[in-house]
Amino acid sequence: MSSLFSSKRTVWFPILALAIQILSIHSVLSQSQNNAFLYHKCSDIEGSFTSKSLYQSNLNNLFPQLSYIVPSTGFAASSSGNTLDNVNGLALCRGDASSSDCSSCLATAIPEIRQRCPNNKAGIIWYDNCLLKYSSTKFFGKIDYENRFYLYNVNNVSDPTSFNTQTRALLIELTKNATTRGNQKLFATGEKNIGKKKLYGLVQCTRDLRSESCKACLNGIIGELPNCCDGKEGGRVVGGSCNFRYEIYPFVNTA
Ligand SMILES: *[C@@H]1O[C@H](CO)[C@@H](O)[C@H](O)[C@H]1NC(C)=O
Ligand SMILES: *[C@@H]1O[C@H](CO)[C@@H](O)[C@H](O)[C@H]1NC(C)=O
Repeated sequence: MSSLFSSKRTVWFPILALAIQILSIHSVLSQSQNNAFLYHKCSDIEGSFTSKSLYQSNLNNLFPQLSYIVPSTGFAASSSGNTLDNVNGLALCRGDASSSDCSSCLATAIPEIRQRCPNNKAGIIWYDNCLLKYSSTKFFGKIDYENRFYLYNVNNVSDPTSFNTQTRALLIELTKNATTRGNQKLFATGEKNIGKKKLYGLVQCTRDLRSESCKACLNGIIGELPNCCDGKEGGRVVGGSCNFRYEIYPFVNTA
């Protein structure tokens, strides 16, 4: 499948110090071209589980369920186990990812998060094409304010003030489109002319959120624009419940 994203890949520099190592050349190249590993986080707050515990077996049940259900629609939230050792998980594929890209992203993400967070009761991992999250806490429908990171293109635009304004306007319009009645994907992409150039954007929420919560989540991360990507040619704020991306080149798969 052709991808404009892979043909015009930019170098991303995450703000979080921790994220720098994961975006090393090695980790980017070891992934398929258009499904780079982005970041992961294991939660210590919920504690750890032991080998052969009920929690582990619930987790063992949950992940295959998600990888089975998600590729057809791009999203699923599911729980495994009873109250005491309940595991809740969700997976979301990028709205423009094909079912097979979605499937292969999860096939990568599942063993990877198990390896990176071997005993943690909660964890989250992001790739270009998918997000996978699990927790002992029932988090469905709630905006995730804990897990968030920024990525930006190192190149500066020549007219930051007007560029920032236009970027913000595009993302706000896309938020409206993603949360408009009947858009069940909570996903929107679009573009905007800025002078002779074009600006391209994408917004998406996890579909356990109601559209009002999706809107609140996106408004929250759009508010981070000055912190993440002031005057930068491209940027992303990526969270556990919503994310946006903008670029001065097309990156959305239209196939
Ligand atoms: C962009 O601007 C920042 C802040 O002025 C500067 O530190 C950085 O080197 C610039 N980046 C490039 C690629 O020129
Ligand atoms: C938002 O949706 C409207 C109605 O479908 C469409 O005309 C407009 O181009 C969309 N906005 C963007 C930025 O794509």
